[in-house]
Amino acid sequence: MSEGRESSEGGGSHIAFDSAEKVFSLFTAASCYVLWVGDDGRLIHVGSAPVGSMGEARRLGMRGISAYTDTMQGWDRQEDREEFSVLGDTSYHDVAMAAQFPEPGGPLVPGEVFSGSVRDVRLRYVSHRIAEDEEPGLAPGHGLNTRVRQPRQTLIIHLRDTLYDFSVELFYRLTPEQDIFERWVEIRNDTSHTVQLTRLAFACLHLPRSATALVSLTGGAGREFQRTRYELAQGTLLFEHCGLNTGHAHNPVFCAHRPGQADEEHGDVFFGALAFSGNWSLRFETLPNGTTRVLGGYELLDFGMSLAPGQSHRTPAMLFGWSSEGIGGASRKMHRYLRERILPDTGDRPVLYNSWEATGFDVREDHQLELARRAASMGVELFCVDDGWFGGRAHSAAGLGDWSPRASAFPGGLKAFAEKIRALGMRFGLWVEPEMVNPDSDLYRAHPDWVLHYPGRPRTEARNQLVLDFGRPEVIEHLLRCLSNLVAEFGVDFLKWDMNRYATEAGSVAGQSVGYSHARGLYRIMDELRRRHPGLEIQTCSGGGGRVDPGIFARCDQAWISDNTDAHERVGIQEGYTLAYPARTMECWVTAEKNPLTQRISDLALRFDVAMRGALGIGARLDELTAGEIAGFRQQIAFYKRIRSVVQNGDLFRLDEVGRASASVWLFVSANRAQAVFSSIILATPHGQLRGPFRLCGLDASLSYRVTNCRNEEVGCFPGWQLMAFGLPDDHLTAGACRSVRSRTLLLEGLNPDDPP
Ligand code: DGJ
Repeated sequence: MSEGRESSEGGGSHIAFDSAEKVFSLFTAASCYVLWVGDDGRLIHVGSAPVGSMGEARRLGMRGISAYTDTMQGWDRQEDREEFSVLGDTSYHDVAMAAQFPEPGGPLVPGEVFSGSVRDVRLRYVSHRIAEDEEPGLAPGHGLNTRVRQPRQTLIIHLRDTLYDFSVELFYRLTPEQDIFERWVEIRNDTSHTVQLTRLAFACLHLPRSATALVSLTGGAGREFQRTRYELAQGTLLFEHCGLNTGHAHNPVFCAHRPGQADEEHGDVFFGALAFSGNWSLRFETLPNGTTRVLGGYELLDFGMSLAPGQSHRTPAMLFGWSSEGIGGASRKMHRYLRERILPDTGDRPVLYNSWEATGFDVREDHQLELARRAASMGVELFCVDDGWFGGRAHSAAGLGDWSPRASAFPGGLKAFAEKIRALGMRFGLWVEPEMVNPDSDLYRAHPDWVLHYPGRPRTEARNQLVLDFGRPEVIEHLLRCLSNLVAEFGVDFLKWDMNRYATEAGSVAGQSVGYSHARGLYRIMDELRRRHPGLEIQTCSGGGGRVDPGIFARCDQAWISDNTDAHERVGIQEGYTLAYPARTMECWVTAEKNPLTQRISDLALRFDVAMRGALGIGARLDELTAGEIAGFRQQIAFYKRIRSVVQNGDLFRLDEVGRASASVWLFVSANRAQAVFSSIILATPHGQLRGPFRLCGLDASLSYRVTNCRNEEVGCFPGWQLMAFGLPDDHLTAGACRSVRSRTLLLEGLNPDDPP
């Protein structure tokens, strides 16, 4: 290292290294992240912070590092803020990585004999470099563009064990425009023996001091994405899922802030998420000194990974960042990041029809065509046939694994059916569940060894199905061949990719890396399908919202977020979903007036108002609708097409949350602030309660906005400043409780200032 300051500026980010102080300072547009190479070569976290208003920060750099770091090191180092804590040295707390060197330890150090594995790693700084366009592990291989492709700077710090030729590179990629940092690691074994990793996080983060208020998403099938609050106290809070998907119970995202110092639109909030769809864990360990470290990466329960001599492993990423506009600001940053940097750039999401709730497994060509004709006449753009179209799949006990059309369902042939769908002006989609097999299937009969199992032990079925072993290359190649042929032969434009059970008894050729190898196989099939068929789009689904995370959105355009289509209950599910995920990815169907799941009756306006908050879909029995209802559907779909670009690409402000006041009020604002969509859902109004108008956010104060409803009737025209100061005058919100549920969606269009009012 030479004495002095070395810095690299690129695309709005700034990475500086002060070799005298041995400090790295990483700046995005409005936040910083600082780390320090301690005197003994350990890499120590100094802090991260929002510095939005401090224009001079980058130029001045970090000074007087010792004043910050002297207090950081206890004798046993348990409370050190290491950038990547490892088991070894004097550590006995939770760590980001634990490794076992072979037994006996002797061969590694000639002359010494030791019976047992060496579980001691001591990582010290060796060097660093700055690179452009580095990618984390499991980065998409489909070649499709994202909306924003400006190169990004990545700081790479090389650490090496003090004795063995075993190293870890830490990656820090900066996305300056959204203040997003991503971290991942690459482990390299250059010893002459296989090393066993028994614990591996993608990153170790340190929450800002006193940020003990935590928000995350929990739930279950049918009640996914519930916003849940925790108060961090000494000890460990663990979220983990080991079913080979992301899971329903927890979602790998979080926001943290000081209690009472942040809310929906105010205050500093630190947020993060894991970009991985396999077995994962997120641990928040609060130490006796009151600091909290966050370890995010592979599962704890049953993780293991072998690295042969010369082998390396690069993990997926953990992303994190700062918002100075509360939790709403954190959501907007994550939404923009996903829209612009992660999701394939495939344009606005189409209005979809899906047959599942209408027909279940009773898929019949003539009936599906009847539904398709009605859907097309209403303005639907994509028709997706759900479960039941293939193999022996007349029910849930047969056919999974046999991906060719069921002749009794499509006597005229699926190809001819797909052509009829296209002739109606719609694109054609199919449901698949490629990771699964029913024992009653040709695939299972031919390859009973292809499922996850332990030899001679039970293979427990759930929904009559078993899980294929994605650690086997032959399984991946087989599925790729089947699905690619399917897409090519029938001109499939859209796959709804489902996964309807968690894996158990996960005996795999990949051993304890099954959680990783399953996600790698899944991503490989999806990426390769999209590479071969660039027009193909994919929806992630796992018994509803069981596989939603930033990793899957690098290869899926949208998600089926819950099987719960009851408008009433869905409001909260959708609201929770938007904590991290953008509205354009949120597929929402309008289904029957009487919900089949809950038996609750919801009127057409409510069902549409709720579904129009995301990517609109229809799932109703269209052949049972009255002429009046069909006209209503047609009108609402036409209205959605007027508002969808704002909903799908705009910034979301959650003005009131359903969890607080039974009123969910949202505003989407376009990037240029010329258009906005107002959506209010009042689920209950106790007798006598008045609700004032909600002040709007994010509009252009100098514009006037013309407000129209779904019938294209003008509701009024108001100055932007007035809407932001006082809200939309709204008798709908202020009237007494004449009906218990009320909802409406309005389009706000900014008028040219020169236009007459
Ligand atoms: C679960 C999904 O969430 C449903 O939408 C539907 O596709 C079924 N699976 C089909 O089996």
